[in-house]
Amino acid sequence: MKVTVAGAAGGIGQPLSLLLKLNPYVSELSLFDIANAKGVAADLSHINTPAKVEGFTPESKDDKQAIINALKGSDLVIIPAGVPRKPGMTRADLFNINASIIRDLVKNIGNTCPNAAILIISNPVNSTVAIAAQVLKKLGVFNPRKLFGVTTLDVVRAETFLGELTNTNPQELKGKISVIGGHSGDTIVPLINNHSIQIPNDYKGFINRVQFGGDEVVKAKNGAGSATLSMAFAGYRFAEYVIDSLRGGPQPKGTPDSSYIYLPGLPGGDKLAEKLGVDFFALPVYLQNGEIKSFIDLDKLNLSKDEEELVKISLKGLKGSIQQGIDFVNASKL
Ligand code: NAD
Ligand code: LMR
Repeated sequence: MKVTVAGAAGGIGQPLSLLLKLNPYVSELSLFDIANAKGVAADLSHINTPAKVEGFTPESKDDKQAIINALKGSDLVIIPAGVPRKPGMTRADLFNINASIIRDLVKNIGNTCPNAAILIISNPVNSTVAIAAQVLKKLGVFNPRKLFGVTTLDVVRAETFLGELTNTNPQELKGKISVIGGHSGDTIVPLINNHSIQIPNDYKGFINRVQFGGDEVVKAKNGAGSATLSMAFAGYRFAEYVIDSLRGGPQPKGTPDSSYIYLPGLPGGDKLAEKLGVDFFALPVYLQNGEIKSFIDLDKLNLSKDEEELVKISLKGLKGSIQQGIDFVNASKL
């Protein structure tokens, strides 16, 4: 199985690549970055696991071949390329720089390995996934089952923070809570949809901390970026889920992790997109062969009245971000 990381030399890319190098089912690990991918690859290649590691960096601004060489034959491409936030910025403030990075990388994926599963980490996820979908549509190779916005850090945070508040081992909460919606502030909707777990006394504080958990790290890093290590852990958790599904491995226990997905084109997705008024929304997904087999519909997630209100707020925020991504691609020459 070949996995490519685009943005592999960055704060997320390096620890994520390390975790992928440790996965026994990855036979080829391809690391692409505009700088230092070869160094990271040489370093990781000394680890005694089966994955063969190769690094690819463009030799000049006009080098269009390095990314193609990196992507060729990939089963899974993970993208943490782009700039992170500094204090005082929202994720949407990253759009101007990251939109074109995602557009160009995804164009290369569509032309080089159109059957690969694509995991988008780069922010603003609410828009970058819409950019990716629109590029792939324009190229005529869009498979909605294989495009994933990575929102796993939100559920990892929810498990950690709920564990702290209820004095529970957070690992026991995996599969018992979900986070749906988008990946930014109040578009993030944590759900306590399992009646066997305790609702914290400070429920509102819990919701707010999951929604704005990213800000805690941005503030603490004080200009040196945003979450990288917890993101690498979370990105790997979702990548491992995709890898396991590609090799026919075990299904997750409990509610599967969510991903920000394109609803139309998935079973039941047209109807849900129409009801919500958006085409992209994070929901728990079941996978098979590296593809989305199905998602868990909202009406199966037992939303409380409070949670229904949170979904309404999320939808308001998502609409503009999705449209911004689509408009950007429509105004671009591919
Ligand atoms: P970083 O600056 O440390 O690393 C980004 C890397 O991308 C750098 O190595 C850079 O050289 C590379 N890069 C830039 N343009 C590229 C291109 N065209 N092709 C290939 N590589 C390119 O940033 P980071 O902390 O790793 O964050 C990366 C992105 O992930 C940011 O947009 C950040 O907001 C986002 N992020 C998302 C989540 C999430 O939950 N989805 C969590 C944390 C961070
Ligand atoms: C996060 O949730 O930590 C990331 O989206 C990075 C950020 O900008 O907060």
